[in-house]
Amino acid sequence: MIPDSARQRAAELSRELHRHNHLYHVLDAPEVSDAAYDAWFRELLALEAAHPELAGPDSPTQRVGAPPLEAFAPAEHGQPLLSLENVTDGAELREFDARVQKFLGLEGRVAYVGEPKLDGLAVALTYGGGRFVRGATRGDGRVGEDVTANLRTVRSIPLALDPAAAPAALEVRGEVVMTRADFARLNKDQEERGEALFANPRNAAAGAVRQLDSRVTARRRLTFLAYGVGRVPPGWAATQSEVLDRLEALGFRTSPERRQVAGIEAAEAYCQEVEERRDRYPFELDGCVVKVDSLALQDQLGAKARAPRWAVAYKFAPRQATTRLLDIVASVGRTGAITPVAVLAPVEVGGVTVARATLHNPGEVARKGVLIGDRVVIQRAGDVIPEVVEPVVAARDGTERPFVMPDRCPACGGPVEQPEGEAVPRCAGLDCPAQLKGRLRHFATRRALDIEGLGAKLVDQLVDQGLVREVADLFRLTEADLVPLERMAEKSAGNLARALAAARTVDLGRFLYGLGVRHVGEATAQALARHFGTLAALQEAGEGALLAVPDVGPEVARSLVSFFADERNRAGLARLWATGFAVRGAERPAGPRPWEGMTFVFTGGLSTLGRDDAKARVEALGARASGSVSKKTTYVVVGAEAGSKADKARELGLALLTEEEFLTMLAGAEGASPPIAVEEP
Ligand code: IVH
Repeated sequence: MIPDSARQRAAELSRELHRHNHLYHVLDAPEVSDAAYDAWFRELLALEAAHPELAGPDSPTQRVGAPPLEAFAPAEHGQPLLSLENVTDGAELREFDARVQKFLGLEGRVAYVGEPKLDGLAVALTYGGGRFVRGATRGDGRVGEDVTANLRTVRSIPLALDPAAAPAALEVRGEVVMTRADFARLNKDQEERGEALFANPRNAAAGAVRQLDSRVTARRRLTFLAYGVGRVPPGWAATQSEVLDRLEALGFRTSPERRQVAGIEAAEAYCQEVEERRDRYPFELDGCVVKVDSLALQDQLGAKARAPRWAVAYKFAPRQATTRLLDIVASVGRTGAITPVAVLAPVEVGGVTVARATLHNPGEVARKGVLIGDRVVIQRAGDVIPEVVEPVVAARDGTERPFVMPDRCPACGGPVEQPEGEAVPRCAGLDCPAQLKGRLRHFATRRALDIEGLGAKLVDQLVDQGLVREVADLFRLTEADLVPLERMAEKSAGNLARALAAARTVDLGRFLYGLGVRHVGEATAQALARHFGTLAALQEAGEGALLAVPDVGPEVARSLVSFFADERNRAGLARLWATGFAVRGAERPAGPRPWEGMTFVFTGGLSTLGRDDAKARVEALGARASGSVSKKTTYVVVGAEAGSKADKARELGLALLTEEEFLTMLAGAEGASPPIAVEEP
């Protein structure tokens, strides 16, 4: 028996969490802090752990993903998911309008609605009695794949609709996309982990939706935007615009900046406007969709074999161009990584002039098969970052030559190493100016110390003129040092001096990221800061203690230990403290203990955390760690080859967590702590 009070509180929490989720992920208008949201979330988790029957499939806690599937089940669509015919210019758009008018036997202005065409993966969401029951990919239009578990993790997909407003049956159609910002973050992460990069947000989104392990999907940030329904519920709407309004009212995010337009000229103007602004949308657009607004007219028009007669896709100009590959130069980064960079005859691609593009590593140059002197196809996709797609082989005249990786560092002449199993060769020079410049740029970057005015050009000057030989030198610079520099007026020298002064005290997480330790990205740096609280504690940590931090694997742990063990780094830090530079620590909550009252039992082998570490961490959050399973146990964390304790927990109907789920919860709870206290280095 569940006490009424628990049932009521769970319902209340669930309602509030759904509401704030919607405010945050659909409306972009959060009303409460992340910490408040997290606190409610944890409270609900605890209630559901105590009373597992409360954790229904549409509880807000069910968005972390489920264990992997063997394969996706086929999902047959009630009504086929059609595709669209394309037009590429105004003339073709007017022909579409003429066909519509002719078919309907009308003359004059047809009422259309223009929508951005989102570049992602089409999915159909089935709601029964207001509950999300199935999510399917488009597949061949008739049968797709059942990706329900994955789509449950997408926060902008409502799991339950307002029962008063939801029709008994509803199929919502739309696109799963990844924002450019989330895509950039994902690829940066992939790069830091030495994993393959995604070509564009569409591939990244499609890959995430088609993951057999929905926990992986949960970690990629995806967004769902609705653009239509399967069958329109009776009496629901008379136009496409009303359909979208209804969907919005039910809690869906819909195509941004859709517009009702009278006549095809206005539709064309709309398409051109959106094309001009395409870079300002958070999502990638590959065109606009022009739809006949009236649903009655849509019905009359019907569909041909694969596409409706009532809609058309107006495709934007491709953001590709061809140009000459003048040279491939080797560029040295802050970690010594030597990257081949394409030097191009400047060419405009999608409104931006491109003169350089990274080729990532020598393997990539070989894979693309580009030669110096080739005509090459350039594109800007997914990001504003341009890339070389391929050579135009037919345009070769025999003068082209292959790129050869230099065997000495082009910046310092030092030796080049090719570490085992890595794609990128590295300069092993200790005083390489290119590495120093890279380190300084990284240190000053927005997500690290955020030193305004200290950009690449200025860093080059400071290093080239010998004013800065290491990071500490930045904080010894005076206005008088800066004024004589090229293009440095007195005012901006003053501004920079002030920015440097302001950067003298910095949060631990930002500082750690700014140090540029290999494999330590922004997320890892923040996790380390939260976990250790002070730089001193982190510096003392061995590999074992480092591995206890969520997000830290053996590679990161080794990299940190060797960074802080390196005498040159220690001496460099000592000189930095000597300039008056200080790091603000982050402390774990001493007061509120978010897991107060919970009891954890660990069973089986944990691969990331040691058993002792896991116990210490839950205790630090206020929970108890116990050796035996009982009715009072809140969570049983089940590791590899767990035995009788897991069985007993199942018998008692207790909440079981996989190691990964546990780590996710742990990171959430530990992350809620605010940074405090100034650390004296
Ligand atoms: S309407 C029958 N509206 O484009 C109507 N589709 O090439 C077909 N798409 O598979 C869909 N944004 O995934 C529609 N605002 C939008 C869209 C959109 C993107 C995709 C959709 C479809 C493809 C058709």
